[in-house]
Amino acid sequence: MAKLAPVVCLHNGRSMPILGLGTYNAKPNEVRTAVETAIDIGYRHIDTAYLYQNETEVGEAVRNKIQSGLVSREDLFICTKLWSHFYHPDKVRRGVQKSLENLNLGYIDLMLLHAPVAMKYVDDNTTMPQDATGKVLVEKHTDHVALWKELEKAVDDNVVKAIGLSNFTPAQIDNILQHCRIRPAVLQAEGHAYLTQKPLMDYCRRNSLVLVAYAPLGSPRVPRPFRSDEESAKEPVLLQEAIVTKLADTYKKTAAQILLRYLVDSGWVVIPKSSTAARIRENFDIWDFQLSADDVKQLDGLNRDFHYYKFEFMEASDDYPFK
Ligand SMILES: NC(=O)c1ccc[n+]([C@@H]2O[C@H](COP(=O)([O-])OP(=O)(O)OC[C@H]3O[C@@H](n4cnc5c(N)ncnc54)[C@H](OP(=O)(O)O)[C@@H]3O)[C@@H](O)[C@H]2O)c1
Repeated sequence: MAKLAPVVCLHNGRSMPILGLGTYNAKPNEVRTAVETAIDIGYRHIDTAYLYQNETEVGEAVRNKIQSGLVSREDLFICTKLWSHFYHPDKVRRGVQKSLENLNLGYIDLMLLHAPVAMKYVDDNTTMPQDATGKVLVEKHTDHVALWKELEKAVDDNVVKAIGLSNFTPAQIDNILQHCRIRPAVLQAEGHAYLTQKPLMDYCRRNSLVLVAYAPLGSPRVPRPFRSDEESAKEPVLLQEAIVTKLADTYKKTAAQILLRYLVDSGWVVIPKSSTAARIRENFDIWDFQLSADDVKQLDGLNRDFHYYKFEFMEASDDYPFK
């Protein structure tokens, strides 16, 4: 039997594996194989989103593995995210229902509000509504509490087991905490050696939120919405950082494995994305070594509060989180 990742317990009593498979920008037809390969290797946590347009394939892959007898539904932790065009109280349930139908796995283990900014609703498929000039139509203000109350109903109906947030600031989370009936279980935020987010980690610990790192490898070669290739080419490449490659030599691991182990030992859950079988395997093989305190300190020193993802297309909203 495959070795599994350790788990963290959410406040609803359910377990979340601390290493999952990311699927953003996984091409159609690739993602099914990637998810099946990952489950064969031992991954039990898959991260998707309505926005990624791959929930259907993720669900098919999971069902294939359940039908093969390798796993049962209860062994798996599936996270998806409600996208911003569904951020209207009368559309939240529709968005939840869409993801449930796409995944077709009976229930969703964790559903996140993807980002704190609402967009105009045109139809289910228009995830980036734009005006004639190409400007994305974001709402000036989003009523997070009203959205949250709708998500709570999905938990009441037992179709979603836990709810959480992504890309929200502590002030925005405080507002939800003050008005919620069901607390957010998870915050998903960008996290890696260039963006260690120590204050955010402290905040999450104080508020019993599990913190999940997206872009844990520094998101190399991943296109950002509405950013030119020239601009993306200027991004620093975390996997090639000299300290990281030196530690990889020292520990006889790869740069990716050093970065992932660093994050899990710092208290993050990680969701590296890969569609390459060898890398899916490599990213899961991080349990047989531990970084020394001095080496952790060296990696801490790489922090430069650098965001690969900036969601610039949401900047016109008062709720834009990365001011
Ligand atoms: N909540 C949010 O707003 C949000 C935002 C961004 C991402 N996410 C989630 O977080 C996941 C991870 O973020 P991400 O995909 O941007 O970044 P990432 O996981 O840091 O990096 C993914 C990139 O690294 C490559 N890669 C994977 N393993 C590698 C290895 N061992 N060696 C070298 N290259 C490797 C992948 O290429 P190949 O696929 O070609 O192997 C892919 O290009 C996403 O997939 C998504 O599920 C959430």
